[in-house]
Amino acid sequence: MTVTVVDHPLVQHKLSLMRDKTTPSNQFRQLLREISHLLAYEVTRDLPLEMRLVDTPLETQPMPHISGKKLALISILRAGNGLLDGILELIPSARVGFVGLYRDEDTLQPVQYYYKVPQAIDQRPVIVVDPMLATGNSSCAAIDLLKKSGAQNILFLCLLAAPEGVAVMQDRHPDVPIVTAAIDNKLNENGYIIPGLGDAGDRMYGTA
Ligand code: URA
Repeated sequence: MTVTVVDHPLVQHKLSLMRDKTTPSNQFRQLLREISHLLAYEVTRDLPLEMRLVDTPLETQPMPHISGKKLALISILRAGNGLLDGILELIPSARVGFVGLYRDEDTLQPVQYYYKVPQAIDQRPVIVVDPMLATGNSSCAAIDLLKKSGAQNILFLCLLAAPEGVAVMQDRHPDVPIVTAAIDNKLNENGYIIPGLGDAGDRMYGTA
């Protein structure tokens, strides 16, 4: 299973601004949106193309179009929505699903409260989005549910990953590639990524 770190200077610069604790929520969301576009560009580079005829004003020629069933973007609520919004701007025809999981603060285990995914998920490329791959528990639980629904071609996209989360994902879902903007040093005892950026949902929505 592959782990890809998107080390593009624009991604890295914007991520550093997001990490800064003085960056307010509105700028944090805007930066997340901008990074989402760049990450979406990366994760879709292998989508299959097919040739279809296009009438230009001058001639009819076969031209490349994305083929197959439309992508499914699955947001792990609530922080996943920040990545989702930006990606949808780039891929507006994608189908969208949501997995609602909250982290029990004592056990750090995910608890499911919502699940709704597009039809024919087994025939779609699926991109699961969550800005933070921390313990890996929520991400793995979400992917467990998606596989139970038949999803076969799954990629996990995040902004920041902890080495511990990457290891858990590699162990439980070795078939799922991970794409991230950075792999940080470690998790702290509360399950936060260090140095990280804090609680992504709180930073996005100003709920800290
Ligand atoms: N979730 C977050 O939002 N931040 C972390 O550092 C870990 C999990």
